[in-house]
Amino acid sequence: MLLRVLGTAAGGGVPQWNCACPGCSGARRHPGWRRRHASLAVRAATGRWYIVNATPDIGDQIEDCPELSPGPGARQSPVAGLVLTDAELDHTLGLTRLREADGLQVVSTAPVRRALLTKLRLGDVLTPYTALEWRELGAGAEPLSAGSDVEIDAIPVSGKRPRYAADSAHDAAWVVALRLRDRATGASALYAPALADWPGSLQRAAAAADCVIVDGTFWDDEEPRRTGISERTATGMGHLPIDGPHGTAERLAGLPGRRLYTHLNNTNPLVDPAAPQHKLLAGMGIEVASDGMVIEL
Ligand code: MLT
Ligand code: MN
Ligand code: ZN
Repeated sequence: MLLRVLGTAAGGGVPQWNCACPGCSGARRHPGWRRRHASLAVRAATGRWYIVNATPDIGDQIEDCPELSPGPGARQSPVAGLVLTDAELDHTLGLTRLREADGLQVVSTAPVRRALLTKLRLGDVLTPYTALEWRELGAGAEPLSAGSDVEIDAIPVSGKRPRYAADSAHDAAWVVALRLRDRATGASALYAPALADWPGSLQRAAAAADCVIVDGTFWDDEEPRRTGISERTATGMGHLPIDGPHGTAERLAGLPGRRLYTHLNNTNPLVDPAAPQHKLLAGMGIEVASDGMVIEL
């Protein structure tokens, strides 16, 4: 199984257009600090790729990834479809940027599809440009593409709704973790860029995966309040922190496979490549994903 990390930042990106925090300012001085919105490309078959989450950067992310270059036909793209882990704007707004496609296959859970259709009205907006084909993402593993060895299924993580859909019905599948499995080799990856919770089902899937890539939005629970970006804690904002007694680092440390963080907020000290927090994670065998990273399993 072949994965390509297309971006590793939380909503806003690094740098964020209206932000002069140390991380964003640093990214304006040092191009190496820059991170695009969190996204992952998965090869379903030769020349056939799915992009997990459609970020506001998706056009540039496709352009910068050699495997996703169009051709040989004039309007032929290896991008076969999109998979969504949730309905947050940083993971869905990119759908509008793909309106030049003849058709767009979107794989998501039912509450995510409903939010995009009834709240963002993406069906009404995009139908005059392209044909949206919805595929339901659920608990039963299905081939990513017809004939693909890569299977996908979803593990419900939390009922956290996007702010624009705050009045929508409760559903355990608003936010899911994706399990990708290569049937030919047995290799598997777990991708969970938004973790408001760590249910037992996720723990079991993480323990069985060869590679887990998870929510690294905030270093510690107080970070959003300390940096002045929110009055809520990280947990209150729907992101388990990395550090601390109930942090995700402790959970990752006990897992057997490769472990990486993604979806870093610009306030996260990890945005600075020289931050001591990198050594701390490395000591636990945990990596921080970088834009462009290739993961072969
Ligand atoms: C999140 O990850 O919590 C959301 O993307 C927040 C947001 O951008 O509003
Ligand atoms: Mn986000
Ligand atoms: Zn910032």
